Amino acid sequence: MSALLRELLDSTITQQINQLDVFPGSRVLEIGAGTGHVTALLARAVGLVGRVVAVDDDTTYLNPSAVVDVYSRDIAVNPDALPGDAASVDLVIARWPHHRLVDPAATIDRMLTRLRPGGWLVLADVTDTRPRVHRAATTGDEELINRVVRRLYDTALGAGGTGRWPVDVEGLLHGRGMEQVCLSAASETWTGGGPGCGVLAGIVDHARPTLQALGVHVDDIDYFQTVMTDPNVLLRSIERRGVHARKPA
Ligand SMILES: C[S@@+](CC[C@H](N)C(=O)[O-])C[C@H]1O[C@@H](n2cnc3c(N)ncnc32)[C@H](O)[C@@H]1O
Repeated sequence: MSALLRELLDSTITQQINQLDVFPGSRVLEIGAGTGHVTALLARAVGLVGRVVAVDDDTTYLNPSAVVDVYSRDIAVNPDALPGDAASVDLVIARWPHHRLVDPAATIDRMLTRLRPGGWLVLADVTDTRPRVHRAATTGDEELINRVVRRLYDTALGAGGTGRWPVDVEGLLHGRGMEQVCLSAASETWTGGGPGCGVLAGIVDHARPTLQALGVHVDDIDYFQTVMTDPNVLLRSIERRGVHARKPA
């Protein structure tokens, strides 16, 4: 995940952590900890008497410390190997662990096994609400943005895909008997040449091989990069989603 994308997603997860009042001494399990960015926020929140267990199948960027334990686990291949005891942690959290989950709903179930009664689950990702073009220099530019973004979303976030948590994650959590289920979604406006459009250009660039395989012409991908620097462009951003819920005490 690029630093810019991470920054864009940070407000949602930070808000969740603050709202749930993660306190010094809390025990936290984080799934798909990646570069340890959220892990560091959590470590600060739980203080020296707390514990954060960070799990990822690529632990290259995760550093154990007095507060942080790092576990290398592929939770798709070995889903039952989540570290820790049943019902032992105050907070289980996962921000956008991405495509390799295979079965995100089953992952949520396993996360719930580690949660103590009264503990909180926090999930975050992006929704499949596409960036909407509010303004572009020409109708051709608008059409191009819509076409490339539609393809990107179909491949990365399409219904039934594993690129994010289940669409009806609220329903799933209610179905599991969770309480105080709360969902928030947020978006803003991005301008061509700004950081948000830069992130979108970066994601499209990264997805080049997939997009080309799906019939998006290389010239269109190149031109998309240019259009994203055009200050005439105004878009509704990628929409972020955060969910939290409490296990009954
Ligand atoms: C997009 S990054 C997000 C990192 C971090 N949660 C954040 O928000 O900054 C997705 C992370 O999930 C991890 N991941 C994906 N599938 C996984 C799996 N099956 N088992 C363990 N980790 C996985 C990846 O290795 C990657 O570090």
